[in-house]
Amino acid sequence: MFFVFEGIDGAGKSTQLARFNEWLELSGRPVVTCADPGSTQVGEKLRSILLAKHSMPIHMRTEMMLFTAARTQLVEEIIKPALAANKNVVLDRYLWSTVVYQGHAADLDPESIWQVNRVATGGLMPDATFVLDLPVDAAMTRLGESLDRMESRGTEYMQKVRDGFLTEAKRFPDQVFVIDAMAEPDDVAKQIQMTAQQVMDSRREAR
Ligand code: TYD
Repeated sequence: MFFVFEGIDGAGKSTQLARFNEWLELSGRPVVTCADPGSTQVGEKLRSILLAKHSMPIHMRTEMMLFTAARTQLVEEIIKPALAANKNVVLDRYLWSTVVYQGHAADLDPESIWQVNRVATGGLMPDATFVLDLPVDAAMTRLGESLDRMESRGTEYMQKVRDGFLTEAKRFPDQVFVIDAMAEPDDVAKQIQMTAQQVMDSRREAR
C-alpha cells in the first residue's frame, strides 16, 4: 500500500508520519518511508536548491519542474521497486504539494501541473493521502522563527496553500482524506489509523 501525508507547513506532519510508520510496522509488512523532494541523490540536490534560502532567481515554472523532476526520480528509484516488492510506502508530500504550492498559491494553472505530474509519475497514485489541516495562524505559530524558502512566503500565500489542499481533496473523496490537525496528537494519530484501516479493508474486499 502507498500512503502520502500532505498539508501546510507547521501542520505536524513529521510527528504524525513517525507515529503512522510505527503503527503500520505492526502489520508485519516492511515499511519504506521517504520525503518528496528528497530521498534520492538527485532529489536531495534539488531539495537544497528549492528550499535553502538564497538569492538565485528561480522562475515559478522552473520551480514546478524541479519539484516534479525530483518526484520522477523518487518514483522510479524507490517507490515503484518498493511496491513491487510488496512493501508499504509512506511518503512525506507528493504531487498535491506541487499542484497547491506552485499552482493554487502561486500563479501556475493547477490543471497544467496535474498534466505534467501525470507524465512525471507515470500516473502512480497513492492508495490514501492524508491532508493535515489547520488554520494558518496556528501553523505559523508552530513553525516559529527559522523559515525555509517556501515558508518565508508569508501568511497570505499559506492561506492559499490551505485552501488549495481543501479544494483538491474534494476532487478525490475516496483517496484524499482531510484530517483535523488542531486536535490532540493522539487523536490525530487515531483518526489517521482508522482511515488507513478502512482503506486497507476495502482494498482487501475488492480483491
Ligand atoms: P517539508 O516537506 O514540509 O519538509 P520540512 O518538514 O523539512 O520543512 O518542506 C518542503 C517544502 O517544500 C514545503 O514548504 C512545501 C514545499 N513544496 C512545494 O512548494 N512544492 C512541492 O511540490 C513540494 C513537494 C514541496
